[in-house]
Amino acid sequence: DAFEGRGVWRYSAALPFEEGVTLPEGDTPLHRVPGLESEVGVRNLRLKHEGMNPTGSFKDRGMTVGVRVAEALGVDRLACASTGNTSAALSAYGARAGLETLVLLPAGKVAAGKIAQASLHGARILEVDGNFDACLDIVQDLADRGEAYLLNSLNPFRLEGQKTIGLEILEAFYDEEGRFPDRVILPVGNAGNTAALYKCFREMVAGGDLAPGDVPRLTGVQAEGAAPMVEAIEEGREDTRRWEDVETVATAIRIGNPVNAPKALPGIRETGGTAVAVSDSEITDAQRAIAGEGIGVEPASAASVAGLRKLRAAGEIEDGEDVVCLTTGHLLKDPDAAAAAGADPEQVGDSTEAVLAHLAGRTGLS
Ligand code: F0G
Repeated sequence: DAFEGRGVWRYSAALPFEEGVTLPEGDTPLHRVPGLESEVGVRNLRLKHEGMNPTGSFKDRGMTVGVRVAEALGVDRLACASTGNTSAALSAYGARAGLETLVLLPAGKVAAGKIAQASLHGARILEVDGNFDACLDIVQDLADRGEAYLLNSLNPFRLEGQKTIGLEILEAFYDEEGRFPDRVILPVGNAGNTAALYKCFREMVAGGDLAPGDVPRLTGVQAEGAAPMVEAIEEGREDTRRWEDVETVATAIRIGNPVNAPKALPGIRETGGTAVAVSDSEITDAQRAIAGEGIGVEPASAASVAGLRKLRAAGEIEDGEDVVCLTTGHLLKDPDAAAAAGADPEQVGDSTEAVLAHLAGRTGLS
């Protein structure tokens, strides 16, 4: 159709099909953020805003491929566990493909916008009395028993689509600056994106399109209350230890058992990157700072910028670096977090005089 060869599918040579179930996805902006750039003090700072995908997160890049595979396999039912965005994307792409969709969510821990999406796109929503990791255990069981086709990032076809984030970053940055960025900083939950970007860079090196010395340093950021990847990097482990109790305002990355850790940890190490944990208040401060540049992101996305600030302050990132921060989801995903982080509405009477009086500092409640 008219979307063929656009966005993600512009890179079909790197994907398992020529075209997919598309809305279409990809081609997201690589924003300049001059205020943040000078505040943080790096040579170049860009935000790759994945919140601009059709359902508002990078998950769409994986689903356009994953649901295409499901179609080819002729499966009856799609399923995922989710902190919200995966379920929103799967519900939309499942609807597009005309397939039954089942999503398992941690009860009470998914942002309102994401549930609204799954609901309206017609998924069957199961709220589980447990965290995301428990939901994923169940969905893996369902898949093993042949009850559903699993579309979490354990599904390698998802990661094939998500590789295109890296291709777009490298291509756009090179077009504008004549060189590749030194570092890509991203929020980490299940570590699917980290694994996908590492695969993208490896394939580019193997194809002769990227010199080994030009591979950006993969730098992962987690919330302090859910940081098993940071722990694994600090302790030099090959896999993560499962955190049973996780908590953070960034509910998208409220994950204690990152299933892609074995693929992602080597990516962080071998590119010379690092991993860092940030507090909820650092995440919210970063969300406000990004919003101050006109760009609206959900809390998990702001973790990338919070991590950049922290690593700069610690002297672990040099002022000469070209840095791209990935902002993974849109502000409207989590309206409650945005309202809590932002300014409160002010009550005024229904007249111009009341408004003027209020602006002049009098009450205005006539
Ligand atoms: N940012 C957002 C907004 C997310 O929704 C997620 C993951 C991540 C970052 C982390 O990405 O797992 O590749 O390291 N959300 C999943 C979900 C778990 O269910 O929506 P990752």
